[in-house]
Amino acid sequence: MSADELEQQARARLNPTIFDFVAGGSGDEVTVAANRAAFRAWRLRPRVLTDACEVRLATEVLGTGLGLPVIVPPMGSHWLLHPEGEAATAAGAAAAGAGFALSSDSPRAIAAVAAAAGPARWYQLYFRSDRAAAAALVDAAEAGGYRALLVTVDVPVLGNRRRDMRHAYQGGRGAPLGDQPEPAVSPDGRFHPDLRAFAPTTWADLDWLRARTRLPVVVKGILDPADAELAIEHGMAGVVVSNHGGRQLDHAVASLDALPEIVEAVGGRVPVLLDGGVRSGTDVAIALCLGASAVGVGRPVLWALAVDGAAGVERLLRGLAADLARTLVLLGVRSVADLGPHLLRRAGP
Ligand code: FNR
Repeated sequence: MSADELEQQARARLNPTIFDFVAGGSGDEVTVAANRAAFRAWRLRPRVLTDACEVRLATEVLGTGLGLPVIVPPMGSHWLLHPEGEAATAAGAAAAGAGFALSSDSPRAIAAVAAAAGPARWYQLYFRSDRAAAAALVDAAEAGGYRALLVTVDVPVLGNRRRDMRHAYQGGRGAPLGDQPEPAVSPDGRFHPDLRAFAPTTWADLDWLRARTRLPVVVKGILDPADAELAIEHGMAGVVVSNHGGRQLDHAVASLDALPEIVEAVGGRVPVLLDGGVRSGTDVAIALCLGASAVGVGRPVLWALAVDGAAGVERLLRGLAADLARTLVLLGVRSVADLGPHLLRRAGP
């Protein structure tokens, strides 16, 4: 089943408010569409007669072994889709050999996911509040055996989620929109974000975090090579090229379009991951050809969770692995490490 068919199945089961919370993006959803379209702009150029029929998908990222170069990126509120929530998703991911990143929007799930997940589990943080709160989460993540911290940096303020506003909905955060102050611009043109929800975060906070933990710290939400360079200067162990699945800055560059320049700037010093619009094994192969070490597959995992819980997540990710393996055979390469730009061409004349 394609990711789009799975989405239709999930849509038939879900309350429209929940469906729109997951499917939606910000503004006119230009970036949501661009993330998908960016993959369609590439063509693969296979080699033949290479005797590649047994292929290996296994890889290692940040010291974490993965059976395939795919992780479930951090997404809040899995329990909206299935009563077993994050624990079910983590179990399904582990059964398929994929990694799992737990969102800090799901604070109650740290221990449950640690029990259900495989060793390939990472923890995502926002610096929404003070450092003491962040430190408590870091300690819990370390105690729970999480292998890396992802710090998401593309939410200085919440994106303009029109679908959620239409439903007066705030995702798993609970309070209806009417109860939360909307970001306001005063008549003299000054902007007043809700500082309770969005404390300003800077590289100094990431320096503090790096000193506070023994885990590798990865920065998620990088789209500019200059920021990738800064991430390395600040001792980050990796970068995730991401526009939050088109849920933050609308018209942000598609993740895949931003990837090549960032890979070039990073020059192999740290792993570069990507998420946004990855829907098939072929998409995974294209991102790896362009230099990603692994990719995140977001919304389709939540659709699979809604349709059939942990088993649905496992089936989706196994299907993705099979599709990736078939793509490698057809490309004439034996392992994900053999993927590279030599196998790609831009579409068109
Ligand atoms: C997200 N994403 C996200 N990212 C993050 O760092 N912390 C979070 O809590 C969330 N929450 C969240 C909820 C939901 C419902 C979605 C769909 C996404 C973004 C996520 O990690 C990832 O960047 C995108 O989902 C990747 O794009 P695709 O695969 O969904 O197109």
